[in-house]
Amino acid sequence: MSAQNFFARMTAPKITARKGGQPIVCLTAYDAPTAAILDEHCDLLLVGDSVGMVVHGLTTTVGVTLDMMIMHGKAVMRGSTKALVVVDLPFGSYEDSVETAFRSASRVMMETGCQAVKIESGTYAAQTISYLVERGIPVMSHVGLRPQSMNVLGGFRARGRTQSVADEIIENAKAAAKAGSFAVVVEGVSEELADKVTAAVDVPTIGIGASSGCDGQILVTPDMLGLFERVPKFVKKYGTMRADIDDAVKSYASEVKARTFPSADFTYKFKS
Ligand code: KIV
Repeated sequence: MSAQNFFARMTAPKITARKGGQPIVCLTAYDAPTAAILDEHCDLLLVGDSVGMVVHGLTTTVGVTLDMMIMHGKAVMRGSTKALVVVDLPFGSYEDSVETAFRSASRVMMETGCQAVKIESGTYAAQTISYLVERGIPVMSHVGLRPQSMNVLGGFRARGRTQSVADEIIENAKAAAKAGSFAVVVEGVSEELADKVTAAVDVPTIGIGASSGCDGQILVTPDMLGLFERVPKFVKKYGTMRADIDDAVKSYASEVKARTFPSADFTYKFKS
């Protein structure tokens, strides 16, 4: 990558500077051709560990590995030139020590060329965030519904219904911001709580199933494109991808079966 290309991209400090300003447009991305389309419209592309569920067919994100994240991170970097690319650190790759977190995050940054990582964070993660940021790795944090903890939480349910959990989520976001996160994803909380989190931190909040008052929004791209029949309740489908694929494949199959599939319009030249 040339120096010119590096500086053409959005940066983590520029995202932070958007706090309270122009809303930050974010989507998940997992492959190069889709990233190339999203790149025109997004400030930030997240190579989310949701890849395990929406691309690899896993039932949770817990089985996603660092190697999977690196493979998809490389593809998204190849497909994009403008957006800030953030890669999720998957379950088991950062929780046990700051050294483990640094090894995983630096591998992701060096092998993919991405500009930041994301971790799901409670107050316990503050030490990890500052350790990474001090060593040159921008960190986006993720509070509220944390899918990597779904075995503890008991499922993908909205969080913060009780005062104590709501307070804990605000504390998690404050700790993440204080430790140096450049932005905080807030997932699966009420509008009221997301607004409180947004007011409590001096870095942008990126909502998913939260409040339109967050400083930015993110959705899982195949969900918003309409690839799946069942999506979380808060997701608006902006496309009809499932029906489009079904129609296209139906037409193709019927042409193949009816032998109306077009022949190649060039002639092979065989050597005698
Ligand atoms: O993995 C992911 O796609 C995410 C978003 C839902 C924020 O973490």
